[in-house]
Amino acid sequence: MRCHAVVPAAGAGKRFGAGIPKQYLLLAGRSIQQHTLDRLSAMPELASVAVAVAPDDELATGLAYAQPERLRFVAGGRERMDSVLAGIEALRAAGAVDDDWVLVHDVARPLLRPADVRLLLTTLDGQAVGGLLASPVRDTMKRGDASGLVLDTVPREQLWHALTPQVFRLGLLRDALLQARAAGVLVTDEAAAIERMGLRPLLVAGAADNIKITFPDDLALAEALLQAQLRAGVTT
Ligand code: C5P
Repeated sequence: MRCHAVVPAAGAGKRFGAGIPKQYLLLAGRSIQQHTLDRLSAMPELASVAVAVAPDDELATGLAYAQPERLRFVAGGRERMDSVLAGIEALRAAGAVDDDWVLVHDVARPLLRPADVRLLLTTLDGQAVGGLLASPVRDTMKRGDASGLVLDTVPREQLWHALTPQVFRLGLLRDALLQARAAGVLVTDEAAAIERMGLRPLLVAGAADNIKITFPDDLALAEALLQAQLRAGVTT
């Protein structure tokens, strides 16, 4: 299977509130973006890596990457789905075809384990649709109303956290995202666009330390998880 990567990295990180996009904050002395892109570009399973950055981003291309020749920077869009589509178009312009696979991974998840990527790709080999890394919900889940009062308890047995990477056939994902956009539906992950087409992505259990850095607290946690990964040698 030929698989390309798209990394949406054009978000402003408003929830983080650092004043600069969160992927430029440092983790063990290097930006989150460098960690994420270096892990992906080190994987021979990925044919190329398209990185969608904000049109006014002046930092991305100036950073030191382990394999800069494997990265193709493109202008992202207003929403995450627009950035992913921009990455897909860049891959197509460079020769990627509908039957190729595309792996979409948030720039804000720098702790991705290469073994999880390999697990996802081998699980999907021969499949028609695609799937995503996910982690089963551990806590008891509550639905609350606007004033913070519990409405009910949601059975957690079938609940998963949707992580990234999410891997789909390139042509299928492109169609799904274009259809969602045309319908005015804002999907927050690729799987949701595929589900809208009546298809069922496969959930593949991945490591729970593949966290997305969203709030300031997450940075200290990511730092501790990174050190644990380095000690355990799981970064290659
Ligand atoms: O904001 P959130 O953390 O959910 O964003 C998920 C990913 O989507 C991040 O990697 C972010 O940079 C990316 N994104 C994007 N283009 C946008 C909005 C978000 O590439 N317009």
